[in-house]
Amino acid sequence: MTDILTITPNPAVDLSITIDQMVDTRKLRCSEARRDPGGGGINVARVIHRLGGNCLAVYLAGGGTGQLLQQLLDAEQLAAVRLAIAGETRENFSVTELSTGRQFRFVLPGPNVAQNEWERCIGYLEALAEPARYLVMSGSLPPGIPVDFYARLARVARERGTRTVLDSSGPALASALNEGVFLVKPSLRELRELTALPLHEEDEWRDAALEVIRDGRAQMVALTLGDQGALLVTADATLRAPALPTPVASSIGAGDSFLAAMVWALNRGADRQEAFHYGVAAASAALLSAGTGLCQRADVDRRYQEISGRWRR
Ligand SMILES: Nc1ncnc2c1ncn2[C@@H]1O[C@H](COP(=O)(O)OP(=O)(O)OP(=O)(O)O)[C@@H](O)[C@H]1O
Ligand SMILES: [Mg+2]
Repeated sequence: MTDILTITPNPAVDLSITIDQMVDTRKLRCSEARRDPGGGGINVARVIHRLGGNCLAVYLAGGGTGQLLQQLLDAEQLAAVRLAIAGETRENFSVTELSTGRQFRFVLPGPNVAQNEWERCIGYLEALAEPARYLVMSGSLPPGIPVDFYARLARVARERGTRTVLDSSGPALASALNEGVFLVKPSLRELRELTALPLHEEDEWRDAALEVIRDGRAQMVALTLGDQGALLVTADATLRAPALPTPVASSIGAGDSFLAAMVWALNRGADRQEAFHYGVAAASAALLSAGTGLCQRADVDRRYQEISGRWRR
């Protein structure tokens, strides 16, 4: 049986390069490109795998980039199932400007996915002989996939006794929340968009999260706040964790690492405070790695010890 299954409808190969300085018109001489697997659910699965968890990444991919993605995942020995599509999987592109440390991230929409292709993905979940304990739905939806795709998956999962975890934005996020999930991880930007409120103050953040819970749209809200840390809200408690002071090589993958470590810990029976602290630890560990790199286990463990030590004091 798979403990944690992640679904990525719009994966990518992430291409990252560095240059000295961004200027227009002139040819910019780049470093050699680094290619990493990408897409929310795929990144979550890679981190859970690194942490030693039992995880399966299910993703929709096609074309030459889809094949490359599969090779990159095989090289990491990640348990993964590719559901083939006719379209060409996207390549995202990030540029780090060495003279300033600024990072530019170019994100493509992804290929068109046909109805029978995305329906196969729902069918896959329905046909699993043994349902997973957790289903992580993460990332954007490519063109052609209806906005209620995650909501449909959430319904199937609930009927099979699987806990659902959601990290998305815009209409896909709103629609899945209307179906109801176990854990949702919005960033502050995503929560503002969801509520259509400016949400300036910390108590407004907590109240907005509580409203999601009271409506039955989620049982837990992990609100990530960038360099301000994170907030975990459940019906009966709110936990606040400041961000750990970390030299930021790149913030790409911080949210995915956060979510992965939290789900990994919950699946091992951790209580919500421990799981939340693992999330913050993994997010902070992800900041240490350049480009699209994710967190390393040793860094996560070290940062977790620091956080749990601070909390006890
Ligand atoms: N500059 C930073 N300094 C310290 N910690 C950070 C920083 N940026 C992110 N983090 C950590 O990473 C976590 C996740 O980051 P963030 O809130 O930006 O979510 P995200 O999902 O990566 O964002 P988005 O989806 O908007 O790109 C934060 O809760 C925090 O713990
Ligand atoms: Mg995010």
